[in-house]
Amino acid sequence: MASTTKKLLSLLGRQPVIPVLKIEDVAAAVPLARALAAGGLPMIEITLRTSAALEAIRRVAGEVETAVVGAGTILNAGQFEDAAKAGSRFIVSPGCSASVFAAARGSDVPLLPGAITPGEIMTAAEEGLDFLKFFPAEQAGGTAFLKALASPFAGIRFCPTGGVFADNAREYLALPNVTCVGGSWVAPDSLVKAGAWTTIEALAREASGLAA
Ligand code: 3PG
Repeated sequence: MASTTKKLLSLLGRQPVIPVLKIEDVAAAVPLARALAAGGLPMIEITLRTSAALEAIRRVAGEVETAVVGAGTILNAGQFEDAAKAGSRFIVSPGCSASVFAAARGSDVPLLPGAITPGEIMTAAEEGLDFLKFFPAEQAGGTAFLKALASPFAGIRFCPTGGVFADNAREYLALPNVTCVGGSWVAPDSLVKAGAWTTIEALAREASGLAA
């Protein structure tokens, strides 16, 4: 999996925020992905936390050329394979799982696994993975914890998610070992349910501006 980080970084480009999405109604997937891409956030993570998730990924992959769709909350090898088959360009897992690592080894689709503790980080690094999700970021110790990891794990970069919002994203993004953050704040359930695509596009534009 040596090329995994390279692939993830090339999909990400300079995007500072990956929207973490929980899609209940599959009909929302395409307009939501379009709105986020129009606001400057083409790379999106659709979590497998709803029964609509795989079909949502399929539709975005097939219909929204401007989006880079990935799957999140992948907990086992079966979900990895289903998500890859649905058209996911990348896979996100909340943790380090031997079965997910095995699935990633046999796939071209890059994996962003979650790792917080030194042991988890070392386990992921042994797989050749050095770009990691740091989840749940705020609850696990936030920016202070990430700062403490920088010296022993000099080559590791993180995407903190969980409790990251517009008001604290900058503090995370300012850390040298943070490449981007993830969060649900750019597409809150209430706005998605209301089909408020223009508002979501505006939130995405604001979030994409955090890169500057
Ligand atoms: C994730 O899976 O990354 C988180 O659930 C997103 O957390 P948030 O809702 O606090 O942004």
